[in-house]
Amino acid sequence: MPFIIAIDGPAASGKGTIARALAAHFGFHHLDTGLLYRATGAKGGDPVAAARSLDASDLTRPDLRSAEAGQAASRIAAIPEVRAALVDFQHRFAEQEPGAVLDGRDIGTVICPDAAVKLYVTASDQVRARRRAIELGADPDEMLAQLQERDRRDSDRASAPLKPAPDAVLLDTTHLAIPEAIALAIAQVNMVRG
Ligand code: DC
Repeated sequence: MPFIIAIDGPAASGKGTIARALAAHFGFHHLDTGLLYRATGAKGGDPVAAARSLDASDLTRPDLRSAEAGQAASRIAAIPEVRAALVDFQHRFAEQEPGAVLDGRDIGTVICPDAAVKLYVTASDQVRARRRAIELGADPDEMLAQLQERDRRDSDRASAPLKPAPDAVLLDTTHLAIPEAIALAIAQVNMVRG
């Protein structure tokens, strides 16, 4: 049985960095599920049709990392039919041997509720906004407002909202350097793997 690591958390919490590092460390596959929603939003037109026809080439668009693509993704991600269209792909990805790391908003709660390890990665709003501002070369105050709007929408939606699974381990990266956060995540996985 493949070993599944589910990582959820709000925007710019550090979950993507931790997910990539865990996958590299353990030799697992990694899926940034946010990219599926970003690519769906970026296709334009009817979001349900866009999600149903998503293919690998859509995931390589150069503009997917922008703040605008993040907002568009958050909006279409509230549509239940869009989410439903993306479930099979995520399930198939998670079934790969020897294991997979998936990061997003609903991995531990909806997509992989039986994951061997679940992490919920957070950080203060200010720290997350500063990180994203540096990454995108944007204004920190504007980033703060955008992140808070996106988190609110992602948390308040009826379909698979952002929230920790009851059995998720919380990892607050506000005061952690990246290597420290990664080391804690690796230790958590090793505790389960034995
Ligand atoms: O992780 P990200 O910032 O790339 O995600 C972009 C948006 O996609 C996020 O604001 C909400 C949505 N999303 C989601 O609803 N469920 C996921 N598993 C991943 C992302």
